[in-house]
Amino acid sequence: MAKARIAVLISGRGTNLQALIDACADPDFPGELALVISNRPNAKGLERAGDAGIQREIIDHKDFDNRQDFEAALNDALKTAKVDFVCLAGFMRVLTNEFASDWRGRLINIHPSLLPSFEGLHVHERMIEAGVKIAGCTVHFVSAEVDNGPIIGQAAVPVLPGDDAEKLAARILEQEHRLYPACLRLLIDGKARLTGGSVVYDESVKGAGALINPSLA
Ligand code: GRF
Repeated sequence: MAKARIAVLISGRGTNLQALIDACADPDFPGELALVISNRPNAKGLERAGDAGIQREIIDHKDFDNRQDFEAALNDALKTAKVDFVCLAGFMRVLTNEFASDWRGRLINIHPSLLPSFEGLHVHERMIEAGVKIAGCTVHFVSAEVDNGPIIGQAAVPVLPGDDAEKLAARILEQEHRLYPACLRLLIDGKARLTGGSVVYDESVKGAGALINPSLA
């Protein structure tokens, strides 16, 4: 079967992009990376795309008078590349309701917290400050509101004594790199679908066990 064509939108270092590049390198993965778009010309992730031989485009929001024109340029690039699914991976622009509805069910994002807790920025610092014992990351469909929209998958990690924001971010990031390709695969395979306002799973999709922190042992 033809592979689904994926675009990844980035603004920065692109480690999640790299995880998707690595996943797509597996012949069994049902998707291929058709396009990487960065709104920042110096994003490190662009080099990763170049190294992997993936088509890349810089669409700098600063070159446009308004959000609509910027998004029209994004849409042109995505449509020209015949993209089926769009993954936001550290893409630091808020997208309009129109863009989100154009791509409804085919536009996903990763966020480094267990949503709906800790949406927005500086989440690792805020989690440490709040003293939560379990943190994690979320892959979700994109809706008009930032870091909102039906959840496809989550991974949880413990917050450990002595953690600072940096240590916690690294522990979460490791799981982001596992979760994002896994959720994308579910979506491409039709095993997770956006139906109405919620995500419906195929019977073959299994749940996971509990993470308890501090350990009961
Ligand atoms: C990740 O923590 C992701 O969850 C958030 O932005 C960060 C991007 O990191 N949305 P990278 O560019 O993928 O390394």
